[in-house]
Amino acid sequence: MITFANGHAIGYDDVGTGIPVLFLHGFPHNRSLWAPQLGALATAARTISMDLRGFGESVPGSTGSMDDYADDAAALLDTMGIDRVVVVGLSMGGYVAFAFWRRHRSRVRALVLCDTRAGADSETSRASRREMQALAQGQGLTAVANQLISGMVGSTTRLNNPELVDEMHRMMSLAPEDGVVGALEAMLTRPDSTLTLASITVPTLIVVGDEDALTPVKEARAMHLAIVGSRLEIIAGAGHVSNAERPATFNHVLSEFLISLTAQ
Ligand code: MLT
Repeated sequence: MITFANGHAIGYDDVGTGIPVLFLHGFPHNRSLWAPQLGALATAARTISMDLRGFGESVPGSTGSMDDYADDAAALLDTMGIDRVVVVGLSMGGYVAFAFWRRHRSRVRALVLCDTRAGADSETSRASRREMQALAQGQGLTAVANQLISGMVGSTTRLNNPELVDEMHRMMSLAPEDGVVGALEAMLTRPDSTLTLASITVPTLIVVGDEDALTPVKEARAMHLAIVGSRLEIIAGAGHVSNAERPATFNHVLSEFLISLTAQ
């Protein structure tokens, strides 16, 4: 579905009934990343996935910041008449979740931070992002996908699930150039969220694949230590897109967390 919110088109899916859960994808993905969750969790939750601006059907999207992505999410919820949600963000989606918490915390029922990190980019990472912007503009998104694919999934997936590797490569190579360049800018200018962690007062689940090379387990442990009362789940045999690589385990962990919320 497509709606118009915060000044531009936003593509989204809205499946199921129950506690509202908003899924935010990573870079350079689109909302189809969450297909294994939307189908499976729809009997227990109202599952909503959205394309961040510049991706999927949320195009054309002007260059933005993590704050803009977060405001887009809040505007989408407004159009749907939803007040509070469980916010689930993977990697870049986690950066957006931190911004959403800073700007719209009264709307956050709980947080799920997947394969992400709290810190800002180092100077080296910023330089790499600038190079990737040039790569996207000069050689296109297939070149970007070629560069990203090995870090995107874990070694177990590379060995046992080449279809998923192909699917992730296809998703990334179809990402619009403007969206990719804009997201790289948003990531390299994003603030450090480390101090935000101590302000998080809602139930929080942290999920990471044990083979995640981009946002490794130590990042998840650091967030777990800093967020009082948070839960940490390490998914065996999964890399950076743990929700897609180990969907049954991921869905089990997420379902248990959602049940614990509704039981409160
Ligand atoms: C992502 O999957 O969103 C990216 O790995 C995030 C990043 O490049 O920092």
